[in-house]
Amino acid sequence: MGIAHEKIEKNIGLLAVLVAVAVSLGGLAEIVPLMFQAEAIKPLPGIKPYPALELAGRDVYIREGCYNCHSQMVRTLRFETERYGHYSLAGESVYDRPFQWGSKRTGPDLARVGGRYSDDWHRVHLIDPRAVVPESNMPGFPWLQDNRLDGRQIAAHMTALQRLGDPYTDEEIAQAPAEVAGKTELDAVVAYLQGLGKHAPRGN
Ligand code: HEC
Repeated sequence: MGIAHEKIEKNIGLLAVLVAVAVSLGGLAEIVPLMFQAEAIKPLPGIKPYPALELAGRDVYIREGCYNCHSQMVRTLRFETERYGHYSLAGESVYDRPFQWGSKRTGPDLARVGGRYSDDWHRVHLIDPRAVVPESNMPGFPWLQDNRLDGRQIAAHMTALQRLGDPYTDEEIAQAPAEVAGKTELDAVVAYLQGLGKHAPRGN
């Protein structure tokens, strides 16, 4: 045993191959069972594909790189659940393509931010964070209030998600342009933020 160990440690090529094998086996053992677990792909009660306005807000969230500073995953640790609420469950993000879990937290986790502040607070905060949080180092996104949403683009996005299996009805897609007509990107991001964690389990 000792000699085999020494041989492997002194042979970089062999060591690299064996490390790759060990890591792959660990990965398979963790990832493959999840693919067959209905719980991981079944939406929690109440979880539906994003309504048109929230979906548009999610697109803006991704475009503006909010995920560079904000995670959307509450870990199963006491201090996390006491601060944010119930830990995140896979069934909450079945319609998140791509998911926004992340681990980078320059700012707080946003998975449970829905309903924590008023729409007006979010508007002011997104335009000029320091107007409401003086010590904030979050950048402002004032242009969101000037950009109007493109209803056709949102309908096309919903159609694409429908083809991927998200249960949007044709009617919902047909109504999307009317639903976002006259709305700005700021309206959309606020709607998206207010919807985050809406159907999460209560308590810790
Ligand atoms: C450079 C890092 C950075 C980026 C990029 C960023 N934020 Fe923030 N965000 C922060 C920090 C830091 C805070 C905490 C201070 C504050 O409330 O302003 C914060 C706070 C927040 C809060 C309040 C959360 C709470 O629970 O109090 C919301 C909501 C939010 N950000 C949304 C966004 C959105 C939406 C975007 C993209 C349009 C974004 N942030 C981009 C750093 C960032």
